[in-house]
Amino acid sequence: GEMLGVDPAYLDAPAVAIELIHAFSLVHDDLPAMDDDDLRRGLPTVHRHFDEATAILAADALQPLAFQVLSSAPLQANGEAMQLRLVRLLARACGSRGMTGGQSIDLQSEGHTIGAEALENMYRLKTGALILASIESPAVLCATLSEADRQHLLQFGRCLGLAFQIRDDILDVEGETEVIGKPAGSDAARHKATWPGLFGVAAAKVRCTELFEEGMRELEAFGERAAPLRVLAHMIVERRD
Ligand code: IPE
Ligand code: MG
Ligand code: MG
Ligand code: MG
Repeated sequence: GEMLGVDPAYLDAPAVAIELIHAFSLVHDDLPAMDDDDLRRGLPTVHRHFDEATAILAADALQPLAFQVLSSAPLQANGEAMQLRLVRLLARACGSRGMTGGQSIDLQSEGHTIGAEALENMYRLKTGALILASIESPAVLCATLSEADRQHLLQFGRCLGLAFQIRDDILDVEGETEVIGKPAGSDAARHKATWPGLFGVAAAKVRCTELFEEGMRELEAFGERAAPLRVLAHMIVERRD
């Protein structure tokens, strides 16, 4: 948003809304019926600290709160149409054609050998959709953005979303619980379909770098203005926690 020159006053609401959806997705993701994990960000997961019913309900409440925040936000002049687009794109990103659909495929894929294309489709939905929404939202708020530049940004977002999940899967194999703040080895224990699990850690790293480089090429259109996005992309592919 800052790169596109959007007034920061209009960026908080979409950022908060996406983070609320992200938080809800993680609370559900950790439930016994899903990944059954006990640790998140170095602390007991919500269902461990409280109980399952509380975790289900807390996430149920986080989800509408995202739309409440987004639909109550301050508007630019004639911003109603933009606000409606933000609501619609977030709804799509977290629904059956986005994060929730991807989570469903993730669970169905446990114990199965799937190909790279099917795996990346799952990543695009379960993880990529929300990351893309956080790039598409400020693009909606920038009335002067050209369609060509918008497409460069979106493709950057798609690359970053996939790279983020591959890095997450690598950390599940190579990371330590104390550092990553969630149980290392959880994916293998649940026979999750992951890039390192199906094709090996080395191949996962190659694919992660490939996606990072493709993303960097998409940012060339923005020159120096994209420096903060380059920093974020570096953080994602190099992160250790
Ligand atoms: C979860 O993927 C994606 C969403 C919550 C939508 P993971 O199951 O790999 O995430 P972690 O490893 O538990 O954080
Ligand atoms: Mg999961
Ligand atoms: Mg998980
Ligand atoms: Mg993971």
